[in-house]
Amino acid sequence: MKNFISVKDIPSLQYALDVAFDVKENPFAYQHLGKNKTMVLIFFNSSLRTRLSTQKAAMNMGMNTMVLNVNEDGWQLESDLGVVMDGDKPEHLLEAIPVIGQYCDVIGVRSFARFQNKEDDYSEKIISQFVEYAGVPVVSMEGATRHPLQSYADLVTIEEFKQKERPKVVLTWAPHPRALPQAVANSFVEWMRETDYELVVTHPEGYELAPDFIGNVKVEYNQKKAFEEADFIYAKNWASYSSYGQILSKDLSWTVNEEKMALTNNAKFMHCLPVRRNVVVTDGVIDSKNSIVVPQAANREVTAQAVLKMILEEL
Ligand code: CP
Repeated sequence: MKNFISVKDIPSLQYALDVAFDVKENPFAYQHLGKNKTMVLIFFNSSLRTRLSTQKAAMNMGMNTMVLNVNEDGWQLESDLGVVMDGDKPEHLLEAIPVIGQYCDVIGVRSFARFQNKEDDYSEKIISQFVEYAGVPVVSMEGATRHPLQSYADLVTIEEFKQKERPKVVLTWAPHPRALPQAVANSFVEWMRETDYELVVTHPEGYELAPDFIGNVKVEYNQKKAFEEADFIYAKNWASYSSYGQILSKDLSWTVNEEKMALTNNAKFMHCLPVRRNVVVTDGVIDSKNSIVVPQAANREVTAQAVLKMILEEL
């Protein structure tokens, strides 16, 4: 594997699952692959899980790691092409990216949607420049439109907790005070579409995901109906795609609560975290025995390590 930007980069879903379960059981068995290799992790946005789990995964693989928080530690980086750089950004990505590539063997990048320009976001303007100019493999640690390390961990978690071969998995929109990117929802749907699970997406009208991501997945606008007989409830907020980046609703009747969970098939509750308690999900649900948000987050280390193993094997 050269880069890890979307589900399309893995050889197959089954192979990715096999690698993940192998590194989970044998976390230190492949340190020879990463010996004397370095991963640089570049953050344009905040992180808790992605930063720690990816660093830990790289260390498990025997790699050295360096972290750059662009907006705090480094020069502000210009990403527009052909601009007269007489503003507040003293360095261009066109130099910064290949220079970073000189110092490492793998680059991880986090760059969220900025909601200033839909085309820039949906063309992955930042991550695609890293892929083009880095000269080393690039791992998305969440781009503008996808969060593949999260979705891979979500898949592993569902495989670990499922009670039947073809579980019903429901992705539900939930309210939030801030405008959040569609990346987690897009990516979750993209990965789930590669499985044979029954996938249902529920959200208020106006929150339809981009056509390329939702494809022909069933959308149920009645949240309670969607929850019926579900085996997994995955909650997430996202801002509108059609009214790009806008908050159209903060309706707390979409909060995941005990009454709605009672409609399910004793479903497990999932969320990528961080989560706003009693806005996205009630304390009663996230503190229940059916909440698997912590093992889900733990699998972030596993899948980051699996990605690094697949990349290092081909260096
Ligand atoms: N789920 C996730 O990516 O968490 P962080 O934003 O804390 O990295």
